[in-house]
Amino acid sequence: MTATPVCRICGGTLHEFFDFGRQPIADAFVDPAGEQEEFFHRLAVGMCTSCTMVQLLEDVPRERMFRTDYPYLSSLSSAMREHFRTTARHFLDTELRDANDLLVEFGSNDGIMLDTVHRAGRRHLGVEPSTDVAEAAAAKGIRVRNAFFEEETAADIADREGTAKVIYAANTFSHISYVDSVFRGVDALLAPDGVFVFEDPYMADIIERTSFDQIYDEHFYFFSVRSVQAMAAHHGFELVDAAPLPVHGGEIRYTVARPGVRVPSPAVGRFLEREKAARIAEPDTLARFGAHVDEVRDALRAQLERCRDQGRTVVGYGATAKSSTLTNYCGIGPDLVSFIVDSTPAKQGKLSPGSHIPVRAPEAFSRPYPDYALLFAWNHAEEIMRKENAFREQGGRWILYVPGVHTV
Ligand code: SAH
Ligand code: TYD
Ligand code: ZN
Repeated sequence: MTATPVCRICGGTLHEFFDFGRQPIADAFVDPAGEQEEFFHRLAVGMCTSCTMVQLLEDVPRERMFRTDYPYLSSLSSAMREHFRTTARHFLDTELRDANDLLVEFGSNDGIMLDTVHRAGRRHLGVEPSTDVAEAAAAKGIRVRNAFFEEETAADIADREGTAKVIYAANTFSHISYVDSVFRGVDALLAPDGVFVFEDPYMADIIERTSFDQIYDEHFYFFSVRSVQAMAAHHGFELVDAAPLPVHGGEIRYTVARPGVRVPSPAVGRFLEREKAARIAEPDTLARFGAHVDEVRDALRAQLERCRDQGRTVVGYGATAKSSTLTNYCGIGPDLVSFIVDSTPAKQGKLSPGSHIPVRAPEAFSRPYPDYALLFAWNHAEEIMRKENAFREQGGRWILYVPGVHTV
């Protein structure tokens, strides 16, 4: 008998609402010549009946995900480079008023955000456990510590550097199951009037768009304003702002401070009202989400099988981590999608995890163009479709599956 899973935030009971079955590590691309066996885990999600945090039921050991050869490079998207330039300028203009103020970012990856802070000559430190991407940032002159952000690391940084005015994390805090240690670290490192700011995919957008491919090993939590408010309060902090972001299919930037230090923005209350009206934390909504996942799976498989039966060629665009859940849950392999093109050097020449679709350089896309391109990097649709407009001009069609399966 297995024990009832409990909430990693508050200890409440988890209501499981979807099980994707056995799934590989979404960023563990397979060497076709290698002998190594792939690691699989059970990918299932539940919602806490007390604090409403949506979370995975099982976590994968962090060293299996974030390691020396972690292949994800943030800076490959020009839209994301612009997003993080704007973010850095915002901190420089608002929070980092004193010339000596320190900004610490965890999950700094290749330095996409810190680059601007560094170029402005301001005090900064990245905390990044994946060695290859940390080295890419260091090569740009950015100060990086190759470590996991948690209580010990944060306390040590506070000892060496003093407190931080801003602690920032993008698409990283929701990857960390051990939030208690992170909050103790924030408590040790954050200046009395400092802010802890993080941005991550928004559960309401995932439900609304049925973007179930956001669910994979690295994404441990799926935040909402309500669950983040509860999480912050549980750890002795206060949620003081929430702002929507258009990136990665819909995110929210949360600002957390020590209690009573900042005046909470009315945006927090507005989001809470909206989440209540949309019933995002109700079991029937989550059950409906699950039914929609299977509708998307069936519609996408039907479309790809039709293409195959009619002799049309289909290529994937963007070997995203997200597409691992999609291909493995929907049973999409090289018989339906011949190969995937991707600009990440470390992914090229490899096979997609579990589904074993070959990954090639973007140049392979036009040699010759396929009839259809399945856009796995749908969150970068605008940027990619603009760059590849010759594909459509000569008669090619994009297949998208968020929101719902459609062709453009
Ligand atoms: N901030 C970047 C990168 C997001 S990918 C962006 O938004 O594009 C998530 C990153 O978090 C990876 O580089 C991973 O190595 C890192 N990471 C995972 N756990 C971490 C932890 N405990 N502390 C710091 N970084 C972590
Ligand atoms: P992304 O959707 O950002 O993240 P995740 O892997 O977490 O789902 O990944 C985008 C992928 O698409 C990444 O492997 C790089 C690739 N890509 C291209 O090949 N061409 C492009 O123009 C862009 C923007 C991304
Ligand atoms: Zn809970």
